[in-house]
Amino acid sequence: MANTDPVRVGVLFSRTGTTSRVELSQALGTSFAIREINEAGGIDGRELIAVPHDPECIPRNYRLLAERLVQEDRVNVIFGCYMSSTRKAVMPVVEKWQRLLMYPTPYEGFEFSHNIIYTGAAPNQNSAQLAEYMTRRFGARVYLVGSDYIYPYESNRIMSDFILERPGGAKLAERYVRLDANERDFLPIARDIKEKQPDFVFSTVVGKGTRMLYQACADAGLDPLKIPIASLTTCEAEVSEMGTSIAAGHITAAPYFQAVDTPVNRSCLARFRAIYGDEVEPNMCWEAAYFQVHLFARAMQKSGSDEIDRLLPHLLGSEFDAPQGRVRIDPDNHHTRLYPRIGRVGDDGSFSIVAESPVGVDADPYLVNHVTDEWRTRSVEVGAAGA
Ligand code: ACM
Repeated sequence: MANTDPVRVGVLFSRTGTTSRVELSQALGTSFAIREINEAGGIDGRELIAVPHDPECIPRNYRLLAERLVQEDRVNVIFGCYMSSTRKAVMPVVEKWQRLLMYPTPYEGFEFSHNIIYTGAAPNQNSAQLAEYMTRRFGARVYLVGSDYIYPYESNRIMSDFILERPGGAKLAERYVRLDANERDFLPIARDIKEKQPDFVFSTVVGKGTRMLYQACADAGLDPLKIPIASLTTCEAEVSEMGTSIAAGHITAAPYFQAVDTPVNRSCLARFRAIYGDEVEPNMCWEAAYFQVHLFARAMQKSGSDEIDRLLPHLLGSEFDAPQGRVRIDPDNHHTRLYPRIGRVGDDGSFSIVAESPVGVDADPYLVNHVTDEWRTRSVEVGAAGA
């Protein structure tokens, strides 16, 4: 007799805490995909059921709740994590119990786990392109500011390498603020940026601090058309939090923006809006959270099991027509082929895509190859928005 037992999957995104706004979008991207899969009959008739917990943006909670998902809730697959510190907290749990984490967030690279699938961008899919675009358009004297944890440290190290190899490349400052920083913490930084007059600011500030940084720069009188803030994480979620007047003119590198002009994306956005309205703003992390559930479901349809040893052979090498384009899980490094893009916030508060790769780019999480030259020759500039 066919197995009709539901398939329970863990969902670990924070509903409270500093990065909860973008994590809520990831949670809803996950729910949306689960709903679509169930409406289409489930996985061979088996309903997919989410088992969500709220880790409140605290790495220790991610570890404890991952243990609970495995030990008590008996799940084999977990969708979750935004901050790299939280992924690093879950990694030993999935490795110890031979479970799988699917992680839908851009991160600093230089990691591989047999028990993780990475569906957000690695540095060769966002940092390299951002460095090339910004230094060519604005110059190579850069002010680095980030939140005080692993992703900003490592991203700044990589960005520094890209910047310093450019003619005139210079790092004017590298500053960190606490994850629970308040408005006042950003005032001296904005003043310092104004004094040093970099060609652009590279921000790896995440969560609630993002609005505070952009606001402080606006209050200090910095003009985003002259000294923009460039980021790998400031997406539609943060822009909707800070408001159009502060966000306009700033720049982000990501594989997905709402503005991706394809039938798959337009249809996906319409279906999502019909169910969830404007509860969250779809963004790169939402999109990765969405497509990774579909990749999982298709692999499980083939394997008949969500146990890692049976699932992985079908997940690795698999492809899906995601809103950003056709993505593929690399069997060698567990990362995903993605479409590097640069977006700039316009006066209406939405990102316009100002440059994009015409082809998917495989992840190179250890930056073995030199990638900026390839982007320079192959990327396509779109419209005049980047001028
Ligand atoms: C991040 O911490 N990977 C944004």
